[in-house]
Amino acid sequence: MIQRERNLTWHASKVDRKEREERNGHGSCVIWFTGLSGSGKSTLAFALERELFDRGIFSYVLDGDNVRHGLNGDLGFSEADRKENLRRIAEMSRLFTDAGMIVLSAFISPHAQDREMVRNIVGPEQFAEVYVKCSLEECEKRDPKGLYVKARKGEIPEFTGISAPYDIPVEPEMVIDTEHTSLQESVDQLIQFLIQKGFAG
Ligand code: PPS
Repeated sequence: MIQRERNLTWHASKVDRKEREERNGHGSCVIWFTGLSGSGKSTLAFALERELFDRGIFSYVLDGDNVRHGLNGDLGFSEADRKENLRRIAEMSRLFTDAGMIVLSAFISPHAQDREMVRNIVGPEQFAEVYVKCSLEECEKRDPKGLYVKARKGEIPEFTGISAPYDIPVEPEMVIDTEHTSLQESVDQLIQFLIQKGFAG
């Protein structure tokens, strides 16, 4: 692939994804956790990463707060910045899958249109959207970082669920209801899903 006008040429690796997957003994994909702040995305992703690691599976969590400390430290929470945040993460997730990993991406990703963009960047056959379902009332009750209190006082503009929208996923590959399912049960469901889809053995 050549972009002549920008003097760029794509260099293909001599090791392809299939070879890496065969040697690793498992597939590669992106599990994309979406949900309100405080719904349990990070908790789930890190618990699943632990379980996969213990099973000898190469996996890595990309987490909203963490990525915004570094790579996306220049971005805020306007619609345009959230879109750019997610576009970069999707590109990075795709690179990680090329490297043979199971990527666990945990981002609010509030707009259905942006989640569609992300799915297309990664490639639909390697992508699964997991809706981390939890009511706004419960998220506010949990308020692990005190952000809802601040948002209600008007101290955080464009806060998802309060002053910025969240589009509930219509056809996610999986729904995890964190108000009614234990963490271990949820991790077990995700492991079963990965096995069923042939990504993990
Ligand atoms: S997004 O919408 O997907 O681009 O957001 P994400 O990159 O996942 O970042 C969400 C975390 O940023 C903190 N935070 C906010 N969230 C929502 N709205 C506003 N305005 C905001 N400002 C800061 C918050 O800690 C989110 O983390 P989680 O883990 O979701 O609670």
